Amino acid sequence: MKVIETDRLILRWLSTDDAAFILELLNDPSWLRFIGDKGVRTLENARNYILTGPMDMYSKLGFGLYLAELKDGRIPIGICGLIKRDSLEDVDIGFAFLSRFQSKGYAYEAASATMAYGIEQLGLNRILGITSKDNYDSSRLLEKIGMTFERIVILPHETEELKLFSSTF
Ligand SMILES: CC(C)(COP(=O)(O)OP(=O)(O)OC[C@H]1O[C@@H](n2cnc3c(N)ncnc32)[C@H](O)[C@@H]1OP(=O)(O)O)[C@@H](O)C(=O)NCCC(=O)NCCS
Repeated sequence: MKVIETDRLILRWLSTDDAAFILELLNDPSWLRFIGDKGVRTLENARNYILTGPMDMYSKLGFGLYLAELKDGRIPIGICGLIKRDSLEDVDIGFAFLSRFQSKGYAYEAASATMAYGIEQLGLNRILGITSKDNYDSSRLLEKIGMTFERIVILPHETEELKLFSSTF
């Protein structure tokens, strides 16, 4: 299902047919460095990740992480969307793009449209962003879409200190 359209991108629901793309994205060096190793090594692992992650969230909440694809050729390049974690009070924005599609403005295009969707379509009045302390590209993007650094947090059952950004409408 198509959710958001921008000049160059379509953001749509992920399905298990996107397993090959997810397998590549979750093993991209930038994903492994800044998000972490989810242990997704096979198409079956990737299908399971899609089913128990994004697809489960669509069915429970009506939103989640979407696949970002180029309108031109319908090429999948990344994921971007909204997530509700038990560990955070408010919804947060998430994004990750394949290295070869980074630094082209796609992440900003997807993330700013996702913020607008969250405010206008979902009626959210506060959206968060969390990122590793050394993930400068992510922090920069969160600030570019209007977020402000709030504080350092450690999520329950985790050890890493993360930067928490927020935007209130
Ligand atoms: C974080 C991440 C999504 C940022 O994506 P990105 O590709 O660097 O973001 P963009 O391409 O939108 O922006 C990067 C730069 O490209 C520039 N750019 C290049 N071509 C552009 C174009 N055609 N249009 C607009 N901007 C363009 C932007 O202006 C921006 O520069 P700036 O930061 O100096 O303003 C990406 O690094 C990533 O996927 N990382 C791995 C996963 C990850 O860390 N996710 C976040 C977890 S919290």
